[in-house]
Amino acid sequence: MFNNGWRKPSVVMSNYLDRIGAGWVLAKPEVFNFDYIPNKLVGRDGIQNELASKFTTLHLPEGSGRVVITGPVGSGKTVLARTFCRDIQRHLANKRNIRSVHVNCRNASTSMRVVQRILHELAPGHPDRGLSMGELLISLRRILRKDTSHLIVVLDEVDHMLRRSGDDLLYQLLRIDEDQSGRGTLSLILISQEQVLDVLETAVISRMGNTNHLRIQPYTSDGLEAIATQRAIEGLVPGSWTPEIIRLLAEKAAPTGDARRVIELLNAAVERCEFRQDDHSERRLTVEDIHLPLENSPTTLGSNLEHIDDLNPNAMLVLLSLCRRLTKEESMTTGDVEQLYAVVCEEYEKKMKSHTTIWKYLKEFEERQIITSRVATITGGRGRTTHLSMPHYLPKDLGIRIEMLLKKRFR
Ligand SMILES: Nc1ncnc2c1ncn2[C@@H]1O[C@H](COP(=O)(O)OP(=O)(O)OP(=O)(O)O)[C@@H](O)[C@H]1O
Ligand SMILES: [Mg+2]
Repeated sequence: MFNNGWRKPSVVMSNYLDRIGAGWVLAKPEVFNFDYIPNKLVGRDGIQNELASKFTTLHLPEGSGRVVITGPVGSGKTVLARTFCRDIQRHLANKRNIRSVHVNCRNASTSMRVVQRILHELAPGHPDRGLSMGELLISLRRILRKDTSHLIVVLDEVDHMLRRSGDDLLYQLLRIDEDQSGRGTLSLILISQEQVLDVLETAVISRMGNTNHLRIQPYTSDGLEAIATQRAIEGLVPGSWTPEIIRLLAEKAAPTGDARRVIELLNAAVERCEFRQDDHSERRLTVEDIHLPLENSPTTLGSNLEHIDDLNPNAMLVLLSLCRRLTKEESMTTGDVEQLYAVVCEEYEKKMKSHTTIWKYLKEFEERQIITSRVATITGGRGRTTHLSMPHYLPKDLGIRIEMLLKKRFR
């Protein structure tokens, strides 16, 4: 992917070739590829069980299933279907010959192209030029019957095809067994983003069976944290990252609920960290690494430092204490805030505000999305504590701006 971070190590290692293709932080670049499929989905047990429950007869010769999966962008629809097809093939390996084809209808947006893709996957040399839709479907049926396999067809982003060619192909595929006295030759999984559901007319969903409609929810920050942690374990050099930095990334991506976003943020942080490496730098992701890249993305709230200019100067003092700590640490507790705030007040020769007022300011920062708070149980089990972090701003930059503003305000 990139090699900017490569420097010749000062110590000659016996396994010196190990580092070829890898970086100081990045051990396996492929883990961050857009089409990388993890061994296991994290935190999706419920929806995976639901999907499997639609295929409970798949081990039987006449068994088949049909499902419509919808959900927001990056909610894991594609990877859910891909891992399901992979896992079910292994699971039924000595019971039934299952094959699967995953067609992205954004690239194959007419029904003709879709069938050509399916055939091409199953029989790479199959001629398709000049053949009519009917002829292609007959070929498909013949291939499937010949090797007595069951085919799971996944039509991803199916709204593209529906818009161009209507829903006719869906019915043709569902009817593919009709002359075969009901053997289950084919299963169908349709995927679409929730927002374009209107195109996926109610007719299509009801044809597939209303109970076969699986709706996926966007990820919460906990879900995103689990996903980013999995990529870090699989793709990064041990010791080059901490759970705290992953948590901060998850909070940064949380407003989108998009798993792709948290993976991109992690990847970008890794690139920055690799880029600044030399023989003396810390080989670990830092708060700075996670902020600077990708800031022009529309889903990022941050980098608009003027957002804080209208804060009351006392609130600024509290925020400054947060910025100072969060420049070095990923998160801090409310107890830390009070301590550091006391130091800042001393420095600016201002009287400290009450506990309640500090609390009110913190609430305001959170409402304005300057900080994020999370309540966690203290390790060891006694009591709960609130962790504050600043996922959308670089604390150092915000701190510099506050110092500049305070100079004017207090003069
Ligand atoms: N539960 C999960 N565990 C591990 N990785 C996940 C999980 N959910 C999503 N991902 C990863 O997040 C990225 C986005 O997921 P995916 O492409 O499946 O989303 P999608 O819902 O199909 O998005 P879109 O609507 O844009 O098509 C992928 O790299 C995927 O591997
Ligand atoms: Mg997808």
